[in-house]
Amino acid sequence: MNKADSELIIGLLTQDGFHRTDDEEQADVILVNTCAIRENAEQRVLGRMSELNRHKHVNPELVLGLCGCVSQHLGEKILDKAPYIDLVVGPDAYRDLPETLRSLDQKHEPALNLSWDRVEHYLDINPVREPGVNGWVTIMRGCDKMCAFCIVPYVRGRERSTPHKEIIRQVQRLAHEGYREVTLLGQTVNKYEDGDVDFASLVKQVAEVSGIERVRFTSPHPSHFPDHLIATMADHPEICAHTHLPLQSGSSTTLERMRRDYTAEEFLSVVKRLRDRIPNIALTTDVITGFCGETDEEFQATYDMMSEVKFDAAFMFKYSPRSGTAAYKRLEDNVPEHVKGERLTAIIDLQKDISMLNNEAYIGRTVNVLVEGQSKKDPEKLYGKTDTFKTTVFPDHPGISAHTIVSVDVTHVSPFTLFGEVR
Ligand code: 5AD
Repeated sequence: MNKADSELIIGLLTQDGFHRTDDEEQADVILVNTCAIRENAEQRVLGRMSELNRHKHVNPELVLGLCGCVSQHLGEKILDKAPYIDLVVGPDAYRDLPETLRSLDQKHEPALNLSWDRVEHYLDINPVREPGVNGWVTIMRGCDKMCAFCIVPYVRGRERSTPHKEIIRQVQRLAHEGYREVTLLGQTVNKYEDGDVDFASLVKQVAEVSGIERVRFTSPHPSHFPDHLIATMADHPEICAHTHLPLQSGSSTTLERMRRDYTAEEFLSVVKRLRDRIPNIALTTDVITGFCGETDEEFQATYDMMSEVKFDAAFMFKYSPRSGTAAYKRLEDNVPEHVKGERLTAIIDLQKDISMLNNEAYIGRTVNVLVEGQSKKDPEKLYGKTDTFKTTVFPDHPGISAHTIVSVDVTHVSPFTLFGEVR
């Protein structure tokens, strides 16, 4: 989401006559886009800002700005910790950025813009995207779910869906620019709703845009997988056989405290419905260890659930209290740090074994890989992804062009990568 927002900010400023440079020393303005989801993300921001501040010794006119969720979360307080920051802008206020930057030329006071805008979809702004195979398209902003641990609704505001016509316009533009894959983005992406157009109908329309060979979306919420959405995913080969399905916890009592609106059984039933209809589907997840009051038994339920579901990959985190959230206000962060850490290590180890086993099942199979470019570790190799989101590495040879789909025979694997030969 932040990558997409950064592309949007670059689009906005470019449209207004600003020129982009990747050279920090040449820049007149440096904006840092930030994430507030966990505390360590927030702390790293301050380190980065103070590092960038050194450029002011060389260029005293440099404008150093902070964008994104940390701005929205900390607001003016950030200036106590980092008084050299010139600009603090939240995720709903990017449209005013060019004007705010110009007004800074006259004043020497830091500018703050943290206003909320419930209808801001950033329509008619063309993001300047990173070159490659995949283009991000934000289809909804904000979140109304109010999970007890999560800061998103407090920093990104209420949920709102971008009009579907604008989304299709952006996807057509992407296809025209040569992108082969599109990833639809939203905090609860499958809750998308624009009049009669629900998420299933939107993904179908996106899949039918000519030139788009792959459609991905992230992150869906486990409670919003009606049968007709699963059928749409199964019936359209362009919609990738991969779903990120954030579990958070495998214990129904923990899920209740987390205010996730499903039980462990309901989660398993979504997994079953997806796998019944799309047998080769890859599932990835997010898990939190040590949420308020998590007992050994509750943690064990998470461990058992992960052993049972056998996700292809997982992002795993220790619970980090975020001020303003329901958990922060009403529950006690009472699982000791070392217990959170031990539980995290246990599931990381488990997941590594499962990922390896899942990948081993690919050995001897032929997979379709959308080529992204040269492997970072070995210049004689190329890499890309399968539709099941597995990074695949294989030897380069003159017949292969970047950004096309090739067939690769998988010969060996690691927990994170498939390796093979082009057919
Ligand atoms: N502490 C730890 N992890 C969190 N996440 C969200 N909020 C917190 C928190 N307070 C994780 C969830 C979510 C992912 C994006 O970040 O697993 O799905």
